[in-house]
Parts: sequence; C-alpha cells; structure tokens
Amino acid sequence: MFYFCRNAAVFFMSRLICLCNRITTNRIENFLKKFPQAELSDVMQSTAASTSCGRCRRELESFVRQIKGKHENKSKDSQLTIPFDYSFTIKKGPH
Ligand code: FES
Repeated sequence: MFYFCRNAAVFFMSRLICLCNRITTNRIENFLKKFPQAELSDVMQSTAASTSCGRCRRELESFVRQIKGKHENKSKDSQLTIPFDYSFTIKKGPH
C-alpha cells in the first residue's frame, strides 16, 4: 500500500512531459542525476521520451537543458573555495 501511494505521489507531483510514452519530468531528472553527461539522444533512448509522435521534443530539449544547467551550477558552487578569514586568528599575549 505504501509503495503504491509513494509511486502515485511521485507521479502526480511531477509533470508528464511525454504523453505518448507517459514519461514524467521526475524520470528525466532522475536519469540526468545518474548520468549528468548524457545528451538528449541518450535521454530519449533510455527513457523512451519523445520516441513516438515527437510532439514533446522541444519541451524535452528545454527541460534537459534546464536540468543540465542546474547541475552545472551546483558543481561550480561546490568548487568554490572560501578564503581563510584572518580576522578570527587569536593573538596570544606574552606570558
Ligand atoms: S508526446 Fe512524446 S512522443 Fe508523443
């Protein structure tokens, strides 16, 4: 029961991006989390999104671009180094 409810919640919280193959944005996002270097063709091949009528192709392209941009920004943020703050150094007086 819990499994069904969880799946239903995930399904309704995400958006259907490909109506023909019932592929959700959540599924695309999970795929890109696993394979951040994947191209649009990889996404299409692995998830079957946009492989029937092709109406969703533009939306899929922009969604993949958006998610990849989000991942790139996260990786750039993680590479930031915080310079050492010298104001916190404690000077010991002579004893
Ligand atoms: S809506 Fe995606 S292939 Fe038709």
